[in-house]
Amino acid sequence: MPELIVDLIEASKKHEQYRDKECINMIASEGIKSPAVCQMLDMSHDLATRYAEGDNDMAGHVKKRYYQGQKYMSQIEDLACDAVKNLFGASWADIRLISGTHANTATFKGLSLASKNNKMVVTPLSCGAHISHDYTGLAGSILGIDNINHVYDLKEFNIDAEKSAYVIRAAKPGIVTFGGSLFLFPHPIKELKEVCDEVGAYVAYDAAHVLGLIAGGQFQDPLREGADFITSSTHKTFPGPQGGVIMGNPDTPAKEKAVRKIQHAVFPLTASSTHLGRLPALGIACLEMKLFGKELATQIVKNAQTAGQYLYENGVKVIAEHKGFTRSHQIALDIRAYGGGNKIAQDLEDANIILNKNLLPYDDQDTKENPSGLRVGFQDITRRGFREGDVKHLCDLMLDVIKGKRTPAEVKVDVLALKKEFCGVKYSFQSVEEALKHVKKA
Ligand SMILES: Cc1ncc(COP(=O)(O)O)c(C=O)c1O
Repeated sequence: MPELIVDLIEASKKHEQYRDKECINMIASEGIKSPAVCQMLDMSHDLATRYAEGDNDMAGHVKKRYYQGQKYMSQIEDLACDAVKNLFGASWADIRLISGTHANTATFKGLSLASKNNKMVVTPLSCGAHISHDYTGLAGSILGIDNINHVYDLKEFNIDAEKSAYVIRAAKPGIVTFGGSLFLFPHPIKELKEVCDEVGAYVAYDAAHVLGLIAGGQFQDPLREGADFITSSTHKTFPGPQGGVIMGNPDTPAKEKAVRKIQHAVFPLTASSTHLGRLPALGIACLEMKLFGKELATQIVKNAQTAGQYLYENGVKVIAEHKGFTRSHQIALDIRAYGGGNKIAQDLEDANIILNKNLLPYDDQDTKENPSGLRVGFQDITRRGFREGDVKHLCDLMLDVIKGKRTPAEVKVDVLALKKEFCGVKYSFQSVEEALKHVKKA
C-alpha cells in the first residue's frame, strides 16, 4: 500500500504536468476551467462533503430538504440555479445532476413517465448521437426506451427534417431528441417542432457539446427554437466544473407535468449526493460566459472554421467542405488516405496533440476500433488564446504528422514550444476576488 500511494501521487503530478502544461488539447468533449472557477472549487471543500437530498419547486429552487444544516446550502443551490436560468433564458433549471449522462437519465426517464410512452426518436450513433441516447447504452439498456432513428442526410451532415417528419408521424414517440457528440451544424428543431407537437412528443435537446456556444449566442438557441428541455454537461464548451444541468420553460400543464417527473427522476430515483461543491464554481462560470461568452464562442467557431479550411487546402479530407466545414467548435476529418483514425490519433498523441478517433456518419458502426475519422475540438486552445494565425501554425504541425513529413517525436519539440506560449486562460477571471470586484463595480 505505501508504495502504491507514492506511485499514485507521482502519476497524478505527472498527469497535471503532461496534459495541462505539455499537450495541445483538442478533444471536443473537454473543457477548460478558469483560475477563478478553480479557486472557487478550492474554496468549497466543506460543501463538497455535504448532502442535500430533497425536492425542488417549479423555479428549480429548494423546496424541501431531509437533513439539517442546510442554511447556506439551499441558498447556494438557489443562487447557482438562478445564474444558470439567467444565462440561458430558462424559467426552470435543475442543477443537481452530476454529469450530462445523469441529466439524460433523469430527462429521458421523466419524459417517458410524463408521456407514458417509451419510444424515442434519436440520431443514429454513427451520425453523432451520444451513447446515452442509444438502445445499446443508457436509453435502451438501462431505461428500456425503444429507439427509432432520425433519417440522417449524409450529404448535408445533418438530420433530414423532411424524412424524419415521416418517421416521427409513423412512430408516435414520447420523446424526440436532438443534439449530439459529433455535432457540426445546428439540428432542425424548428422544422420538426410542429410534427412533434402533433404526435404529443416532448422535444429534448442534448447541448452537452455546444452549451458554451449557446451561452455566447453563436449556435442555435434550442429553447427559442422549440426544444422543451435542454440537457447538458457543464464542462465542455461551457467551461464550468464537471457536472450536469437540465433546463426549460415549463409554461404549459404538459411541461409542468414533465418537470415534476424529471425532478422525481433526479431525486429519489437517481441521485443521493448531488456533489454540491461544484455549485459556486458553476455560478462563476455563468458570470464569465455572460461577460465573455460571445467573444469566446465567436473565436472558437472562427478557429474551427479556419482549421477546416487550412487542412482542406493542404490535402486533408475535411467533412462538409461545401457547408464551410462547421458551425460549432469541432471539425471532422476523414483520414483514411493517411492510415485511418486509429493510427493518426496515436501519431498525433506521440507529438503531444491530443484528439480522438471518431466514427464518421458513413462508417459502419462496427469499425469503432479503427474508424475513418478524427474529431477535432477548438474550445480549449481558443480559451488559451489561439487565434487564426496560431491555428494555422498548429495545423502545419498536425499536417507534418498526418503526412509523415516528420516523426511525431520531432514535431513534439515544436508542440512543447507552442504550448509554452499559451499557458494562461483567457476570456475569464483570474481569481474569485477579481470576479467579485467586477460585479461590485457593475
Ligand atoms: C452529446 C453528449 N451528451 C452527453 C454526454 C455525457 O456527458 P458526461 O460525460 O457529462 O456524462 C456527452 C459526452 O461527451 C455527449 O457528447
